[in-house]
Amino acid sequence: MLIKTATDLNESDVTPFGIYQQRRRFLQSGIAIAGAALGASLLSREASAALEPGRVKPGPFSTDEEKTPREDVTSYNNFYEFGVDKSDPARHAHKLVTDPWSVAIAGEVARPGSYTLEDILKPHALEERIYRLRCVEGWSMVIPWIGFPLADLIKRFEPTSKAKYVEFETLYDKQQMPGQRRRVLEWPYREGLRMDEAMHPLTLLAVGLYGDVLPNQNGAPIRLVVPWKYGFKSIKSIVKIRLRETQPTSSWTRSAPREYGFYSNVNPNVSHPRWSQKRERRIGEFLKRKTLMFNGYEDQVASLYAGMDLKKYY
Ligand code: MTE
Repeated sequence: MLIKTATDLNESDVTPFGIYQQRRRFLQSGIAIAGAALGASLLSREASAALEPGRVKPGPFSTDEEKTPREDVTSYNNFYEFGVDKSDPARHAHKLVTDPWSVAIAGEVARPGSYTLEDILKPHALEERIYRLRCVEGWSMVIPWIGFPLADLIKRFEPTSKAKYVEFETLYDKQQMPGQRRRVLEWPYREGLRMDEAMHPLTLLAVGLYGDVLPNQNGAPIRLVVPWKYGFKSIKSIVKIRLRETQPTSSWTRSAPREYGFYSNVNPNVSHPRWSQKRERRIGEFLKRKTLMFNGYEDQVASLYAGMDLKKYY
């Protein structure tokens, strides 16, 4: 993402991947089992237990496109709570304590409360889903996530008839997240979905990637993944899920409403005010490729927006 306050940044101001590659910290590659590679003390016990061999089954909707190498997925990140440079999250996010962790379920539900990560995860079978992720900045990746449908969680807490939207919040803790000392965004990071988007079977709560617990820089211990929307909708390190009657305003919409709308569906026909969204650079590839409507998930999600003017509701 680009910081609006640094007014005239454009797409090429984002760290080019080649340069970034030279300075990135190589993290462990290859598939690790149940978090062993990352050192158990840093990991959430609940997330590790959930990833025990045999608990993760292949899920639906996976692409067979080539996966982005794990070291790129875990070291080229946007997580402004740890700095605005692509390499900052991998360098600084290890300071985040993800165990213990709890998530507040609030608003229009029959069973609000504060739930430990264990409470949140226990009843859910985990699946691996290989999804495309398209960042609004113009790069993309293919990531093998491990998680479960957000819909299954929401149903457990029994939404009331007034629940029309879901709002998510990231942890707010300036000690652990030094990026929050700068006002590049209104903290805590907030995002939102319409209820039917949140309940869509593609929408995932992820706790792992590449067969392992989620590294902190990718949003440990639990994050959202909405593959047909620009990456900034996929909020990391969630501490609150609030069901609401009214449409929430995300941090990015608050900071630059003309640039980042509520829907933010991947759409090659609607330009960002400062650059085109027609093409994208898949991390690891030299030539740009065409960006697909709804990031290639058109068959699954187009019906959610039938009759809507997607230029108006960007
Ligand atoms: N969530 C929080 N809390 N803070 C952030 O800065 N960045 C977003 C999104 N979620 C962000 C966030 C953006 S811009 C993108 S592209 C994706 O996370 C990147 O996810 P990844 O680093 O796992 O690829």
